Amino acid sequence: MSWRLWGYDLIARPEGADLVILNTCHIREKAAEKVFSDLGRLRPLKAARAEEGGRMVVAVAGCVAQAEGEALMTRMSLVDVVVGPQAYHRLPELIARVERAAGRAIDTSFPPEPKFDALPQPTADGPSAFLSVQEGCDKFCAYCVVPYTRGAEYSRPASAVLTEARSLVASGAREITVLGQNVNAYHGEGPDGRPWSLARLLDALAEIPGLARLRYTTSHPRDVSDDLIAAHRDNPVLMPFVHLPVQSGSDRVLQAMNRGHDRKTYLGLIERFKAVRPDLAIASDFIVGHPGETEADLLDTLSLIDAVGFVHSYAFKFSARPGTPAAALPGQLADEEKSARLARVQERLSVHQAAALQACVGQSVEVLVDRRGRHPGQLIGRTPMMQPVHVTHPGLEIGDLVRVRLVSAGPLSLAGEVEDPVLARRRA
Ligand code: 5AD
Ligand code: SF4
Repeated sequence: MSWRLWGYDLIARPEGADLVILNTCHIREKAAEKVFSDLGRLRPLKAARAEEGGRMVVAVAGCVAQAEGEALMTRMSLVDVVVGPQAYHRLPELIARVERAAGRAIDTSFPPEPKFDALPQPTADGPSAFLSVQEGCDKFCAYCVVPYTRGAEYSRPASAVLTEARSLVASGAREITVLGQNVNAYHGEGPDGRPWSLARLLDALAEIPGLARLRYTTSHPRDVSDDLIAAHRDNPVLMPFVHLPVQSGSDRVLQAMNRGHDRKTYLGLIERFKAVRPDLAIASDFIVGHPGETEADLLDTLSLIDAVGFVHSYAFKFSARPGTPAAALPGQLADEEKSARLARVQERLSVHQAAALQACVGQSVEVLVDRRGRHPGQLIGRTPMMQPVHVTHPGLEIGDLVRVRLVSAGPLSLAGEVEDPVLARRRA
């Protein structure tokens, strides 16, 4: 987003800033609490700015703002602006209002005009770009705040997505990750006036000249359609990687979570993905210690991890979120118990992650170089399956797509040697 457009320049640190925006996440308590410690740290900086005769406007954006709007204003006197995730295109107007009247402003509405239409066209700031195509969720998993903070499912029209994708590629993106809370529920209006599926959208995106890689995240098992599976066979630009959260391996827990799928359906989906693309890698999210989870349920989760062999996953301790059905369920577990179970799940996940990396050693793969490493001359890129690869090679630049022989694996990443000269160089 262009900061100049708003009349601000981006600076590296909050000291002396005229405007500080904290973008917040409400998904788990730990994430939500972070905003209060961040605000605590800003308090002396805001006071210092006032002593200099200036004013530091402090805005809280995102899902904590959405969920705790008024309470946040009352509890934190230094907050000037509160803006929910559906209203952040109104931020310039809210800030202007606050600056004019030296007062405070709050907007946590779900305005009828889609925010995407009101935001400036983004440009890529590296070879790998994100593109939001869908927001919100109607699934109402028992533990989750998203349907409350982000509202009902909304899909952007395909033409708007394609225009944005072309602009990202024109400004240097070689890879686009299509984003949505429930991305495979995408059903945006196509140019023909009919709804397009995610697979159809990915096919159209794949036609953009200069776009070398496509990914999408995050998917829900309930919305995996036949055409999405087929896209992994037929779409040449779509990477062989799917982030498909399962949350638990126990049918009892999946039911309590209101996930709308069971273990068998999930494993069946994995089989179907692998049938069209045997090298496809699966990643997942897990919640450990959902209310009522027993030792037997946990063992089911561990056995599902072994059955799928996830290439990468996130695991979280269940966090009771205010207003969600799971927060009121009986059988809440003690934090120490959740921690102990989380450690077991994470340990099992890391065994499979390391094994997947080890299995790549000796292979030759395409790597998109997207950032600098810690050592001089070292660059980091990603394999088609998202694994990080460290490479050092004269003349190699960020944005290059190169063929790399993978020579060794650590627990989290690979090291490789460039085999082929640059396959494609990012256009400046
Ligand atoms: N507690 C713990 N983890 C949660 N997630 C969502 N809600 C909660 C919660 N209340 C996790 C899920 C989801 C990921 C984005 O966050 O695993 O897939
Ligand atoms: Fe939350 Fe995902 Fe469930 Fe929607 S599908 S309620 S975003 S966990």
